[in-house]
Amino acid sequence: MDVGIDRLGFYTPKKYIDIVELANERGVDPDKFTIGIGQSKQAVPDIYQDAVTMAAEAADNVLDDDNRSDIGLVIVGTESSVDESKAVSAFLMDLLELPEDVRAFEIKEACYGATAGLQMAYNFVAMNPDKKALVIASDIARYGIKTPGEVTQGAGAVAMIVSKNPHILKLENKSVYMSRNVGDFWRPTFSKTAFARGKFSNEIYVDFFTTLWKKFQDKYGVTADDFDTMLFHIPYTKMGMKALRTLDGKIPDDKYSELVEHYQKSVEFSRNVGNLYTGSLYLGLISYLVNGEVKPDEKLMLFSYGSGAVGEIYSAEVVSGYEKYLDSDFIKQELKNRQKISVSDYENIFSKGLVNGDTTALSDVHDKFYLSEIKESERLYKKVN
Ligand code: COA
Repeated sequence: MDVGIDRLGFYTPKKYIDIVELANERGVDPDKFTIGIGQSKQAVPDIYQDAVTMAAEAADNVLDDDNRSDIGLVIVGTESSVDESKAVSAFLMDLLELPEDVRAFEIKEACYGATAGLQMAYNFVAMNPDKKALVIASDIARYGIKTPGEVTQGAGAVAMIVSKNPHILKLENKSVYMSRNVGDFWRPTFSKTAFARGKFSNEIYVDFFTTLWKKFQDKYGVTADDFDTMLFHIPYTKMGMKALRTLDGKIPDDKYSELVEHYQKSVEFSRNVGNLYTGSLYLGLISYLVNGEVKPDEKLMLFSYGSGAVGEIYSAEVVSGYEKYLDSDFIKQELKNRQKISVSDYENIFSKGLVNGDTTALSDVHDKFYLSEIKESERLYKKVN
């Protein structure tokens, strides 16, 4: 029985800043940000948005009357959670009108969370073939104003419905993984922004990729020739390239060129949205499926990495005819219809947030789901009717 991703949905906030304008404001050569880091636009979440509202938006794009009642598992991968106790998934139960007989919880391991969720979902559906799982990655990447990581911020969510006989991606149950205690990136509970040893993180990321790729080849007796495309966790578009480059000169030149060409298609959306943390790899998948010239039954290798650190490489196969189940036009329109804001407006939004006793005026809301108020320190959410 095939198990994998049946539906894929994406949400990113409606406001963004231009990276050249950010570079000019910060007194940096724009080429450093657009070429050296590889970003063009950065999503800016509104003050009524958080990991809950973005998760709801992405999932709302994939749930319908047919699949909703089959959901038996809901996992939200996030490192931008809003509560130390209550899971993001609990807030989604009524916002998304999910059936009560589900296991719904949140999972955290930096940018690896959604992959952990996806692998659990695979096992759940394999054991319960008539059920489906909803896996959501939702994050706001925040490093802080005028920090080196500022250019690699972003926000958004990816939702995946995992089922038997999937229409988008078959997971092959071939995977290798590793974990190590590493201080490359962390966010203590007192801080809204992350602490990162950026260059060290790059080194660990490449080391994890190299180690896992060797393990994967040894375990399954495959080489790069067995894959059409390699997808990477993409905190910024240059980062995946650092891992891919390790194959240059070690695999046939035409295969390397093909992989680089496909990689460029997989980072188009990230370049225009920024870092989604745990959703980044899956935004890369969406970007490749929407923008690439994908062959029927293409074989993919996916490299997931979460600082701290956990890494995993697994393989998958694109299902022929997936285009009918992925709303490419909607995704492209959503990205096109966003509003550019100035760097000072972004800085203003960045420093704001609802506090206890605040409510959101409906006239300020430009999305379907929003944080409506914080009352007695409890976050309350609403859906615009
Ligand atoms: N034109 C073109 N490229 C330029 C340039 C210019 N004028 N100026 C610099 N560059 C290039 C550099 O050569 C470098 O390229 P390389 O990475 O291929 O060597 C790149 O731009 C970045 O320059 P660097 O001096 O290293 O930038 P930085 O000290 O500002 O740090 C990061 C960049 C990515 C390390 C920093 O943004 C960061 O810490 N981001 C967060 C990363 C993170 O948190 N990772 C964890 C999640 S997995």
